[in-house]
Amino acid sequence: MTTETPEHLKCQVRDYWDAESCGEIYAMGDEPGSRMAALRRARYDLEPYIPEFAGFEDGAGRDVLEIGVGMGCDHLRWAESGPRSLTGVDLTDRAIEFTRDHLALQGLSSDLRQADAEHLPFDDASFDLVYSWGVLHHSPNTPRAIDEVLRMLRPGGVARVMIYHRWSMTGYMLWARYGLLAGRPWRSLAAIYASHLESPGTKAYTRNQARKMFGGFRDVTVEIQLNHGDLLQGEVGQRHRGPLLHMAKLLWPRWVIRKFFPRHGLYLMITATK
Ligand SMILES: C[S@@+](CC[C@H](N)C(=O)[O-])C[C@H]1O[C@@H](n2cnc3c(N)ncnc32)[C@H](O)[C@@H]1O
Repeated sequence: MTTETPEHLKCQVRDYWDAESCGEIYAMGDEPGSRMAALRRARYDLEPYIPEFAGFEDGAGRDVLEIGVGMGCDHLRWAESGPRSLTGVDLTDRAIEFTRDHLALQGLSSDLRQADAEHLPFDDASFDLVYSWGVLHHSPNTPRAIDEVLRMLRPGGVARVMIYHRWSMTGYMLWARYGLLAGRPWRSLAAIYASHLESPGTKAYTRNQARKMFGGFRDVTVEIQLNHGDLLQGEVGQRHRGPLLHMAKLLWPRWVIRKFFPRHGLYLMITATK
């Protein structure tokens, strides 16, 4: 586990995502429009459950906030839904610029700001819907970021949030690689996620821990989803490349995992009402 102070750790998180935004590897093509189209195609082909979970059509006529916009694929979908207002934040300027350009290519816009999920620059009860996909586990104080989601919502407003699940195939593979094969089998999954998944200090939670963090909400549902990393499909994250991974991708028993380990996915998809 990292021994950094939270503020230093947050700088490291920002530097990590400033070096390469999430999914940038899929943005291939000669012009910005074709690059973004390739990115969107790869994202929704690999993760077809995102639109169903997000329920982008529910943005119509609502005040929507997305926390951690990344390269703006989902933010574009929210913009297309016809919200009353759309706001997006991210810790990095890189993500904000990508997202602004991404929306502009489609003639759309949003109130985009560089901001920290743990200290959002908006008044209480400003939004009807808060969405965040794969972000809050990167922030050093995830419970505080979830409290901010609650603060942002009006009574009756809905949060749709994905954070990482501790008991995942991704975690077991990383443990095999950086614990067992590295001669350090005593390393905990928490330490492995913090050091080897994505930005430094990344966390992964059990369902019970997630429910506890969303304790201020009502009607909380928590679903587990196997993702493309658990199934070794596509690019499995900007940190992980090389011959061992290539070999594992050829041999990985995907149908066995889908059939017998569906509850060992990396994603916890949480829906909660204020
Ligand atoms: C894995 S990417 C996900 C981006 C996007 N939601 C997606 O699904 O592609 C994580 C994003 O969270 C952002 N992030 C990390 N910590 C944050 C914080 N404390 N406040 C706001 N954004 C944060 C990063 O800058 C990065 O863009």
